[in-house]
Parts: sequence; structure tokens; C-alpha cells
Amino acid sequence: MSDRSVPLRILGIDTSCDDTGVGVVELTPGGAARVLANRVWSQTVHAQYGGVMPELASREHVERIDAIMGDALAEADLRVQDLDAVAATSGPGLVGALLVGLMYGKGLAQALNVPFYAAHHLEGHIFAAASEAELNAPYLALVVSGGHTHLFDVPSDGQYVLIGATRDDAAGEAFDKIARLAGLGYPGGPAISEAATRGDPHAVPFKEPLKGQPGFDFSFSGLKTAALLAHRGGASPENLAASFQRAAVNALVNTTVRAAGATGRGTVVVSGGVAANRALREAFGATGLRVVFPGRGLNTDNGAMIALAGAAAIQAGRPASALDGGATAYAPLANA
Ligand SMILES: Nc1ncnc2c1ncn2[C@@H]1O[C@H](COP(=O)(O)OP(=O)(O)OP(=O)(O)O)[C@@H](O)[C@H]1O
Ligand SMILES: [Mg+2]
Repeated sequence: MSDRSVPLRILGIDTSCDDTGVGVVELTPGGAARVLANRVWSQTVHAQYGGVMPELASREHVERIDAIMGDALAEADLRVQDLDAVAATSGPGLVGALLVGLMYGKGLAQALNVPFYAAHHLEGHIFAAASEAELNAPYLALVVSGGHTHLFDVPSDGQYVLIGATRDDAAGEAFDKIARLAGLGYPGGPAISEAATRGDPHAVPFKEPLKGQPGFDFSFSGLKTAALLAHRGGASPENLAASFQRAAVNALVNTTVRAAGATGRGTVVVSGGVAANRALREAFGATGLRVVFPGRGLNTDNGAMIALAGAAAIQAGRPASALDGGATAYAPLANA
């Protein structure tokens, strides 16, 4: 690594699913990280299929990544040779999609002769919150996204203990499916959140999943079935949205608060696409815990969060990754 007495510029790339994300972060010698740029191309080609088509996702990444990289460098007001390190997501995700960003990042690092850091997508989601506050263990990390609802205890920096997870659907998946059922469009999270402002959160009596049960797991499939029945029973999309959102938010917040009590953690990082939800942010804000959310544009998949994870690796003195490592579809973050 180059001279640590000057700020380092780290490029981050995420192509794990259907967003082509490239971001740039500056890491000061004191260890503070600041996002200089964050550009995301969200693929629209999948809308007609009602789900992500892996082959099309890979092809779109190939076609877009150069332009998004150029946009990110322009936003950061840097030239490519100003970069001091490159980070890219190696998993989990769609392997073909991951490979595009991973190979691009490795090639770039090799051409520039700078270190390369392979990043875990979920660690990236957690470090998205480092845009708002320095993250120092111990803390709890709740990752609520399209594919994950994972609650980690982070007893020391870089150590992740999975203490709870969804038993069925991820939280974001439930938002998407219920939005589709109610005819509210895609992506479902923002659509539910918007429709909920015009609905009654008590109109449909959803039960809070797993309430009163020991442990810190989550479940959303029961809400999905209850939503289907309420929809058939004539509940309006707005009331369905408001009532589902209330039940989902209560489950996420109450379980996390219980986990904080049990582990004695006073800080909670809440990240992933669902962390953009306003009702969720307000409910966490009322818990009395120190809750850190990612900054604007850093909740859903993006490259800046991967650059932030790379910055944390550099700050912790972790060695750079070998250039022969591959992409992995399934890669648990927990190391305990
Ligand atoms: N305001 C919101 N309220 C609730 N959910 C939201 C909101 N905005 C986005 N989401 C949800 O976030 C999800 C997308 O988040 P993200 O991009 O982090 O997930 P992903 O990358 O698809 O999954 P993973 O990171 O688990 O692989 C979608 O399910 C979307 O509906
Ligand atoms: Mg994601």
C-alpha cells in the first residue's frame, strides 16, 4: 500500500445482481472514510420477466460497467491513475454477474499496480453505514435486503456472529411480493412505503410473526398469506400496504431490540434496501438505541459500500486479496 500519510482513494465495484455499481471513497490517514462518488445503473430489462434473468444481468453489466466507472471518476473529480486501491464484490450473488465486476476490478488493480480487495456483499451492506458514523465493534448489524434478513452480533471488528435470520422470505422479498399482489408495482419497497402513507395501519389485523418466541429469527411468509386473504377479502392496496408495513417493521424492530438487550449492545447498524424505509427508520429512532443507517443512495446495492468495506480492510491492516480468487454464489459472512 502506498504512503499512509496522505488520503487514499479506493474504488468499489458491485455487480452481484441487477445493479451495476461503482463508487469512490477517500480514507484519511486518521481512518475517516468519505464517499466521493456513487453511481449505480439499475437494469430495467428484467421488468418484463417479473424477476432477474441471470444471463441478461451479466450482459448488461458488461455493457455498462465502463461508462459507470467513468461517471464515478468524473463525480469524484479523479483520474483512474489517482486510485490507490480497488475493491469488488466476490460473493454472494449471481456468479455470472459477480464475475463481471470482479474481473474488471482485478484487471484494473493489476494495470494500476495497486492492491485489490475482494469484498463480501453483506459486509458491504453493513459498511454502507460507515458513510454516516465510524463503525467500531461491538455492535449489532441487521441486514434487511431483497435476499437477506440477517441479524449479526459483531463482538470485534471483522467478526460476525449470526444470531438471527429469516426462516423463509427476506424482508425485501415480502415487500416486493405484497406490492405485486396489491398491484402497486416494482420495486415493491418504495411502492408500499408510499401507499402506506394513505392507508390505515390497523385496517388489516396482521399478527406480528414469531412474537413471544425465543431466539432472534424472523418470518415473513405468514404475512404474505395473510395479505393474500385480506386482498381477496377486499382490503384496499393502501390499507394492505400500511398494515403489512406496520407488522413487518414491528417484527424487525422488536426482535432487534430484544437482541440488543440480550447481548448488551448499545449500537445497531441497519442496512440493505429495506433500511431506506421511513417507517422502519422512525421506529428504530424511538428505541433509545444508537442506530446507524447508511447515507442517501447507499441502502440498496451500490459500489460505494464496497469501497467502504475495502477502506475498513485497509484501515484494519488486512492483507490484499490474491488475484486468483473466484466468485461465489453462496458465501456465509458469519465466521462463528
Ligand atoms: N423504502 C423501502 N421500504 C422497504 N423496502 C425497500 C425500500 N426501498 C427498497 N426496498 C427493498 O429493498 C430490496 C432491494 O435491496 P438490495 O438492493 O439491498 O437487495 P438485493 O441486493 O436485491 O439483495 P441482497 O443484498 O440480499 O443480495 C427490494 O426488495 C426493495 O423492495
Ligand atoms: Mg444487496
